[in-house]
Amino acid sequence: MRIGIAADHGGFELKVQLIADLRTAGYEVEDFGAHELVTGDDYPDFVVPLARAVAKGEITRGLAICGSGVGACVAANKVPGVRAALITDSFSAHQGVEDDDMNVMCLGGRITGYALSWDLVQVFLNAHFKWAERFSRRLAKVAALEKERKV
Ligand code: RB5
Repeated sequence: MRIGIAADHGGFELKVQLIADLRTAGYEVEDFGAHELVTGDDYPDFVVPLARAVAKGEITRGLAICGSGVGACVAANKVPGVRAALITDSFSAHQGVEDDDMNVMCLGGRITGYALSWDLVQVFLNAHFKWAERFSRRLAKVAALEKERKV
């Protein structure tokens, strides 16, 4: 499993900590930046390249972090094929994968502390999509939206 991670200044510190723990745990991690802490940088500059890599299948699961996690989630979901959600609890970290095939988990670096974030990351990475007809049917309806060019 190849993990991608991206963060703006609001998630920079959490990203550094999570990369260290992911690598210690044996995961292959690609860091999409920011590569240094620059106050005032913009989350789309890091999150969108990550989201595109997930959509292309180059990255198995993505972690997108900003201060609240909201901007990262909004940006990631603009990329077709990405199913991103802002996660703050363990149930959603696995159910989002099992039922909704979430492939990018967003975290708020100023909201969710490191210890809980690491727990959520592990739950997310260990979860698998359940190939039930109802889940696939719902996802097909979501995917159809990406082909529409209307509001
Ligand atoms: C940064 O100041 C903050 O706006 C950003 O990290 C994020 O929280 C946006 O949703």
